[in-house]
Amino acid sequence: MNKITSDIHWQTQTLNKTIRASIKSQKPLCIWLTGLSGAGKSTIANLLDVRLHAMGRHTYLLDGDNVRHGLNRDLGFSDADRTENIRRVAEVAHLMLDAGLIVIVSFISPFRAERAFARSLFDDGEFCEVFIDTTLEECMRRDPKGLYAKARQGQLKNFTGLDSAYEAPVSPEVHVTAVAITPADGVELILHKLEL
Ligand code: ADX
Repeated sequence: MNKITSDIHWQTQTLNKTIRASIKSQKPLCIWLTGLSGAGKSTIANLLDVRLHAMGRHTYLLDGDNVRHGLNRDLGFSDADRTENIRRVAEVAHLMLDAGLIVIVSFISPFRAERAFARSLFDDGEFCEVFIDTTLEECMRRDPKGLYAKARQGQLKNFTGLDSAYEAPVSPEVHVTAVAITPADGVELILHKLEL
């Protein structure tokens, strides 16, 4: 619901993202990982975070499961709640980029429209979509949290890939075929493609 009215004005600030990022000697960026549950997003996101930190970059990692323990704890897995989940994390990532950080976002983010919304918040070149592409069959085989088994037994509704849609990216900046390479090699591919 849009509650912005003519009574709310934009407050101009002296500092901006370029100035804030300059003391970190880095270009702020949003690296957005999308893929099915169990695709390997969190593992790759965590390794990427560690790798960038070791390179002297100031990063922050926003992971779906963790953000759902706090800011988004009021949201479930209906289409409307997922849309709000992504809207909020996209806005948070945008604020973090404004603070000069390299933000890694690791959410299923199943809908193209919401990922397009997220992209629309950023300037050209600031938003990099990374598709962690693992087949549903492989995710179900791995089932690290036992959630696919639960969903198949009817104990979990609206599970992505089963009774809730996953819309694969059409032209992501990076396509990681996660079954073919190790998470560490996936990280190297992302660093290489994004020229980091
Ligand atoms: S998103 O679809 O709204 O982007 P998000 O990334 O925040 O999802 O959360 C996904 C995590 O929630 C999964 O990794 C899984 O552990 C857990 N989860 C619990 N219920 C579901 C469900 N119905 N569908 C998908 N993931 C679920």
